[in-house]
Amino acid sequence: MSLPHIGHDSSSTIPRSGRRTAWLWSSLIAIGGFLFGYETGVIAGALLFITPEFDLSAFAQGSVVSALLLGAMLGALVAGRVADRLGRRMTFGIEGGVFIVGALTTVCANAYIPLLTGRFTLGIAIGALSATVPVYLSEVSPAEIRGRTMTLNQLLMTIGILSAYTVNFAFSGMENWRIMLAIGIAPAVVMIVAACMLLPESPEWLWARGKTEDAHRVLRSILGGAGATAHLRGRDRDELSTRDGFGWRSLLMPQVRPALVVGATLAAVQQLSGINTIIYFAPSIIADTGLDVSQSIFYSIAIGTINLIMTIVSIRLVDRVGRRWLLLSSLGAMTATLTFLGLSFVLEAHPTVSLALMVAYIAAFAVGMGPVFWVLVGEIFPNSARAHGSSASTAINWGTNFAVSLMFLSVVRAIGLGETFWVFALVCAGSFVFVTKYVPETKGRDFEAVDTELQRRFARSGPARALAGAGAGSASADAPDMPRIHAPSDSGPR
Ligand code: BGC
Repeated sequence: MSLPHIGHDSSSTIPRSGRRTAWLWSSLIAIGGFLFGYETGVIAGALLFITPEFDLSAFAQGSVVSALLLGAMLGALVAGRVADRLGRRMTFGIEGGVFIVGALTTVCANAYIPLLTGRFTLGIAIGALSATVPVYLSEVSPAEIRGRTMTLNQLLMTIGILSAYTVNFAFSGMENWRIMLAIGIAPAVVMIVAACMLLPESPEWLWARGKTEDAHRVLRSILGGAGATAHLRGRDRDELSTRDGFGWRSLLMPQVRPALVVGATLAAVQQLSGINTIIYFAPSIIADTGLDVSQSIFYSIAIGTINLIMTIVSIRLVDRVGRRWLLLSSLGAMTATLTFLGLSFVLEAHPTVSLALMVAYIAAFAVGMGPVFWVLVGEIFPNSARAHGSSASTAINWGTNFAVSLMFLSVVRAIGLGETFWVFALVCAGSFVFVTKYVPETKGRDFEAVDTELQRRFARSGPARALAGAGAGSASADAPDMPRIHAPSDSGPR
């Protein structure tokens, strides 16, 4: 559910205390994003010391990194079902519990196999969190601040990455990799306590379970009494009898397919743009530029800081200029920086030029493609398919992340570093065209308006229409059994 604009000037009708409450809930659950970022960043530093202690081969090192990505793909796949069955809160509690088991397993590991098992378990928790956090954020945020609250997820992720780099730096002198890995447990405990004791269940989930009174109580904290009543009054009661039981099938319904095409494409493209080759392999790439490798932790911290600063810029812009504008400018700038980065390697330019271009590329990603993908994952799917749609898109994101990380070094060896960055540039250029044609603006809109816009965009294009099996006006006829939750009629700006 989008908690919509109640009236045209929503800022004057949603109580200030309600906005504060939405921000508080969103900040607490975005700790899930921190865990995602921390585990992404910490392993490179920890591996420096684990490798000699466990005598790991290059393959074993790679598998310790990628076991998390594979686990995450699995976690993301199951999360939607669990979140629909047990509720969002209980799912967060379980995810936090699995995270702690995985973290403890890695901290106490005395050999390669327990370490690998711990990383895989951590991955399951992180993948599941990355699929459910955007769903919850979108369900407790009023439309006018939804872009910002949802971007909190990415902000905490970048803070997690930067914290991990800093922890790596701080503990590298002591060579204590167990402390590096153990530090992630503290925020997980905070998240579990928040999910179990402080956060309410998602009003959307409560409503779908027929717990109207409970949904009203939660909505009251954000929209005020009259706002909550108006919001629920406008909704389709038939949904209550049809909501359950759609599961994965809901994604194949003609009306949902355009959202799936957008979610899956952006998920893959986010990774095929090469972001994690820089996040994971920055030290080796930096070594390739000819700069002093002993400074690599310093350079990593610089990259992490730019990532964080530009995500803050994105938070300030996302509800003002909209998702499409941010995505398109981001993709345009990524295409340009990747093209020049490739050129700097091919022409063997001065190392600082390559480094500056890498930083510029990260900035271009962090202001748009990074956060906006995670915002859209929570916004483009209709209510009845949101948890599964987020699961599927997130799993594709992790799967592509795994494939790119696995193949990056081999592709570099086969075609060259500069040429590999040109491939990423081509992907970004192609995505620019895709976003221009098919990605709807979601800023300030309730989900029904987003859906109408999606159908319109896909109906205009022959091939996409065939792919998505959808068309404007045909949706309800094609999918008579598609449950809908109607938001109040004001759909925000178009
Ligand atoms: C991506 C991650 C990436 C991170 C970097 C996220 O949006 O999904 O794969 O590591 O951004 O900040």
